Amino acid sequence: MDKKTQPIGFFDSGVGGLSVFARFREILPNENVLYFGDLLHLPYGNKSKNELVLFARNILNFYKSKDVKSVIIACNTSSAQAYETIKDEYDFKIYPIIQSCAKVIAESGVSRIGVFATEATVNSKKYTQEILKYNNNIQVREIACKDWVSLVENTAADIKKAKLSVKNKVTEMMEFKPDKIILGCTHFPYLIDELEQYASKDIYIDPAKIFVEFIKKDMKEKLNPDKNLGYEKFYVSSSPENFVKNSRIFYNVKSKPEIVKF
Ligand code: DGL
Repeated sequence: MDKKTQPIGFFDSGVGGLSVFARFREILPNENVLYFGDLLHLPYGNKSKNELVLFARNILNFYKSKDVKSVIIACNTSSAQAYETIKDEYDFKIYPIIQSCAKVIAESGVSRIGVFATEATVNSKKYTQEILKYNNNIQVREIACKDWVSLVENTAADIKKAKLSVKNKVTEMMEFKPDKIILGCTHFPYLIDELEQYASKDIYIDPAKIFVEFIKKDMKEKLNPDKNLGYEKFYVSSSPENFVKNSRIFYNVKSKPEIVKF
C-alpha cells in the first residue's frame, strides 16, 4: 500500500480526543483517519503507569494491524505515563500531545503557566519537565482536576459537586496569577462554558491546534496527496451508544463505532 494513503490512528480514553480529531479534520481533511475511544478503561486519570502502558500497547498493536502510517496520542494522560515506555516498539511514528506542544507553549512569551490535567498527568510532572526543557525561566503550576472528565462523559455521580470543583480549581489557580492556563486534558475544552465563568476565556489554551499544526509540519512528506475528503472510522472498547451521544458537542460522529476487545 502507498504509505501516504494509509490511515492515521488517534486514541483517547473516550470522546475527549475528538477535540484534537476535529481540529485535525479541519486542517488536514484529505487524510484517512481512525479513532479509538477506550471507554472500557475510562477514566485514564486515576490509573497506574503499568495499566496505562498496557492500554496504550493494546491500542498501538491494534493500529499496527490496521497498517497505519502514524498514531496520534490525543490523550495527555497516556502521553505523560505511557509514551516514553512504548515509543520505540513500533515502526510508525507516534505523536504524544504534551511533548509535541511544549516547545510552542514555552516559547510563546509567557512567564507563568498553569496546567489543569488529570491526576496521573499531574503526578508525572510531564508538562513542567517538557516546558522547562525549552525555557527554564517559566513558573509552572499543575493542578489535578479529578471530577472534570466525568462531567464531560456524563458519568458524574454528583454533577453539582463536579461543577463546584471547576469553580474551586479555577479560583485556586488564579491565586498563582498565571498568564495562561493549559487545558491539559483533551476533555477540558468542552467545559469552557463553566471555566469562563471564573476566568476570562482568553486565559485558557486548548493545545489541540498547536498539536495539529506540529503534526502537519512534521508529516509534510507523508501527507495524503489525494484531493478527496479522507475516510474516517471509529472504534470503542465498550459503550458505542454513549460514545456517539457524548461526542455530539465535539464532533459529528456519523458512523456507529465498532467494538474492539483486546
Ligand atoms: N482525555 C484524557 C487526557 O487528555 C484522559 C482523561 C481520562 O480518561 O481521565 O488526559
